[in-house]
Amino acid sequence: MRITLNFGGSVLSPEWPDLESFRLAAGAVRELVERRHQVLVVVGGGEPARRYIGVGEELGGSEVLLHELGIEVTRLNARLLAMALGELSEPSPPATFREALQLMLRGKVPVMGGTVPGHTTDAVAAMGAKATGSSALLFVTDVGGIYSADPKVDPTARKLDRIGAGELMKLVGTRVTPGMRTVLDPVAVKLLHQLRIRTVVIGRGEIPRIPLIVEGGEHGGTEILPG
Ligand code: UTP
Repeated sequence: MRITLNFGGSVLSPEWPDLESFRLAAGAVRELVERRHQVLVVVGGGEPARRYIGVGEELGGSEVLLHELGIEVTRLNARLLAMALGELSEPSPPATFREALQLMLRGKVPVMGGTVPGHTTDAVAAMGAKATGSSALLFVTDVGGIYSADPKVDPTARKLDRIGAGELMKLVGTRVTPGMRTVLDPVAVKLLHQLRIRTVVIGRGEIPRIPLIVEGGEHGGTEILPG
């Protein structure tokens, strides 16, 4: 089965790159490969990306340049995960889906960061899932699912077992600003609305169960339903 996995920057690099999280993520990818799945991995930038963007903003950087700063940081994280995968991957992250697909066809695991300015790596994962013909798309985030409201702000927020992409579009809005914080970026959600790919949002604690979850196993996160 072809699978696209997105490891959020909040998981891999909550403050700085977290060694254990990179090891955990690489372990799950290895197991997927052992189970004969083909995997595209996309990683986010986390807090370091926001710090670079924040400093760049103070220094007068334009919106496009700030997005580009973010992309550079996501690609650094991609390098770390590729390093953890050793021979299974390639040191330098593919910049396009065409390159990623070529790597996949050579039996490697492409680990991508960002691509072009104006969206986050959530959108890269949704686009990558489409480009590779993946039949499952998993997002691993720090909050572990989609909530009825932001759980960091609203104590009454509850985790949803499932949500339609159309409904999710209302929760996330439409505009993408450099370093923005939403559970999934609006560009990604719009694409999920059109794609018919099984999409699941899970938390860091479920990384070891990823191989079971992609094969239809239970999870404590949220399923995003097309339409
Ligand atoms: P992230 O994907 O890390 O954003 O990209 P995020 O939503 O904060 O995700 P997590 O929490 O780290 O997983 C960081 C920034 O880099 C720019 C955007 O400005 C984004 O906010 N970026 C990233 C792009 O412009 N294009 C890309 O393809 C990827």
